[in-house]
Amino acid sequence: MIQPPPNCSLCPLASQGRLAPVAGVGPRTAKVMIVGEAPGATEDRLGIPLIGPAGKLLDELLQKVGLNRRDCYITNIVKCRPPANRPPEQLEVAACTGHYLSSELEGVAVRVIVAVGATATRYLLPAATFSKTHGLPHKDGGRVILPVYHPAAALHNQQLRSIVERDWAMIP
Ligand code: URA
Repeated sequence: MIQPPPNCSLCPLASQGRLAPVAGVGPRTAKVMIVGEAPGATEDRLGIPLIGPAGKLLDELLQKVGLNRRDCYITNIVKCRPPANRPPEQLEVAACTGHYLSSELEGVAVRVIVAVGATATRYLLPAATFSKTHGLPHKDGGRVILPVYHPAAALHNQQLRSIVERDWAMIP
């Protein structure tokens, strides 16, 4: 499995955040892979994916379905923080996924891939429209891809909380 080196130069994002890209974490034997969008400020500082406010809510959502983050493989579509947390651009997604996420997808024997938010869904299920498919599992060979609302959505808009919870409850 290829992890991004501290001096990655595949796209300009690498030089914008802390010294190193934020690599995926978790056991290669994980049954569930969680794929977020890109590191935010906390992740950029600590070098761990989905550990900030959205990550705390993710922990709660996992707990509700009997999972612990330690048992999951957690990563992002793009490994470096985009300026002001803007969504990663197509070229950044292509550079990062083509090199790193593709190798993570091959190297971890997961059964369920949770595509967290619209950016991850666009990459993992290119034919799907996020608003119509979130919460619905898609078979992909021997794996299932589940697009879900990003926990950050519920932090920005409390009214989305029940939709976020319903999506994540589909993991089992
Ligand atoms: N932090 C991450 O690591 N990923 C996200 O998608 C959002 C915040």
